[in-house]
Amino acid sequence: MTPTPAMERPGDPCTVVIFGAMGDLTKRKLLPSLYNLRCHNLLPKDFAVVGFARRPLDTAGFRTEMEHALKSFATLPVEPGIWADFESRIHYAKGEFGDPEAYRSLTSQLGQLAIEHQTRGNLLIYLATPPDDFGTIVKQLGAAGLLTESAERWVRVVVEKPFGRDLESALALNAEMRTVLTESQLFRIDHYLGKETVQNLLVFRFANGLFEPVWNRRYIDHVQITVAEELGVGSRGAFYEKTGVTRDIIQNHIFQLLCLIAMEPPSSLAAEAVRNEKVKVLEAIGALTPEQILQQAVRGQYGEGFVQGTKVLGYRQETAVAPTSRTETYAAMRLNIENWRWAGVPFYLRSGKRLAKRHTRITIQFRRPPLLLFREAGLDTIEPNRLDIDIQPEEKITLRMKAKLPGPTIRLKTVDLDFSYRDFGEQSPATGYERLLYDCMTGDMTLFHRADIVEASWRIATPILDLWASLPAREFPNYAAGSLGPASADELLNKEGRRWVNPE
Ligand SMILES: NC(=O)c1ccc[n+]([C@@H]2O[C@H](COP(=O)([O-])OP(=O)(O)OC[C@H]3O[C@@H](n4cnc5c(N)ncnc54)[C@H](OP(=O)(O)O)[C@@H]3O)[C@@H](O)[C@H]2O)c1
Repeated sequence: MTPTPAMERPGDPCTVVIFGAMGDLTKRKLLPSLYNLRCHNLLPKDFAVVGFARRPLDTAGFRTEMEHALKSFATLPVEPGIWADFESRIHYAKGEFGDPEAYRSLTSQLGQLAIEHQTRGNLLIYLATPPDDFGTIVKQLGAAGLLTESAERWVRVVVEKPFGRDLESALALNAEMRTVLTESQLFRIDHYLGKETVQNLLVFRFANGLFEPVWNRRYIDHVQITVAEELGVGSRGAFYEKTGVTRDIIQNHIFQLLCLIAMEPPSSLAAEAVRNEKVKVLEAIGALTPEQILQQAVRGQYGEGFVQGTKVLGYRQETAVAPTSRTETYAAMRLNIENWRWAGVPFYLRSGKRLAKRHTRITIQFRRPPLLLFREAGLDTIEPNRLDIDIQPEEKITLRMKAKLPGPTIRLKTVDLDFSYRDFGEQSPATGYERLLYDCMTGDMTLFHRADIVEASWRIATPILDLWASLPAREFPNYAAGSLGPASADELLNKEGRRWVNPE
């Protein structure tokens, strides 16, 4: 991770309390990210970590577990000197999420640690737990008085996705959280927004005068957003059965990318100004009718096939997946943003597992210019300008242009103007959570979802999921692992005279 100018001062003194501290997320992402922040001198000098979990461990045992985890998942070399100081700040709290006694004991432990590590009582509480436990934990924290802020201390709670599984449950969860927390204390995290290219979208759009004048319905034909994964569900079958790709990727990550592409320029880069503009985009999409859903949304599930030459199982054969599962591992949809900038410009979104190639790309397809001048040069074969913003695996931006081929006649060729993040030189390897954790410590909520953004996202996704649940898919599996997805997704664009931009 390369520190940005906004990231030069260390975060505020605080204790980070991680619920679910023996889990996968803590070991793979949170601990290595905190360690990376320490290496970049972005952690406060006065700092502690408390891991809350139910395993019968003491602090020494927990530190050993964390050392093993760091050695397995660190993205930077583990320097003994840095680790020794870091480790001395790690503590363990054993308890069940629902046990009030565990929170009483946690309260007294945190009081002592605030003095020992001079954290001013600031608490960053990270819920790295199954989502069903969010409500229980915040209620217990509230009852123990651990969520109360004062002029001297802040308390912030980071909540992992998924935030609800439909509009109703998201509304209920937001209401439950608000009984003990204010909105300004709640950091709903989306790790996609920690990626450099995603953060660069605002800079690209609003720090360059070139694109903004053409960033609208007059010049843009349509937009595509693709999040394609090569991986299947692996060991997460039980989780995926209840989730599916629409809840896992589209409702949160893809909708956020869409907001960054489609939003109006915010009045400032202050969190509320940016979030106000994002929510307006989602509100301008609104819910599709059942007839529109049947026309504009398709789903798929992978069968067996070959990915990069290796034979792989179909979804229904994966561990903990029902042999008759109707869960969608692929979805594609066309959404319209009904505002002055975008009316009539389709936004095509798609995501799936076990596809031919891992790639996350936003494509802005510009309108075809009046190329009659070049009819002789083969007009029909000439593609209009296209801007590709690649987020994974490579982070780069490519503008496809026309150029004249050298020679005595006029012959056109498509050429690429591109910029890759690699051009900035070797980046410090990162987990993608560093920036987000740092922002929590400085109180910057720009990259976190506000309640109304979550609710507006579910207002779009829920009718689609409800209709699909009421009409169980009969044709599953309908795409082979390692393919580009179901034929119905191609048809979605072909019937409108367009086609997906697939990875080269
Ligand atoms: N893993 C990732 O990379 C990732 C990425 C994005 C989002 N997320 C989200 O992050 C959250 C955590 O994911 P995860 O993969 O870390 O889950 P996980 O590996 O299942 O870890 C959950 C942790 O919670 C603990 N726990 C569960 N019930 C408990 C209880 N009643 N009392 C005390 N501790 C309890 C578990 O303890 P035991 O070990 O004792 O069972 C475990 O330490 C989920 O919301 C997930 O969707 C994860």
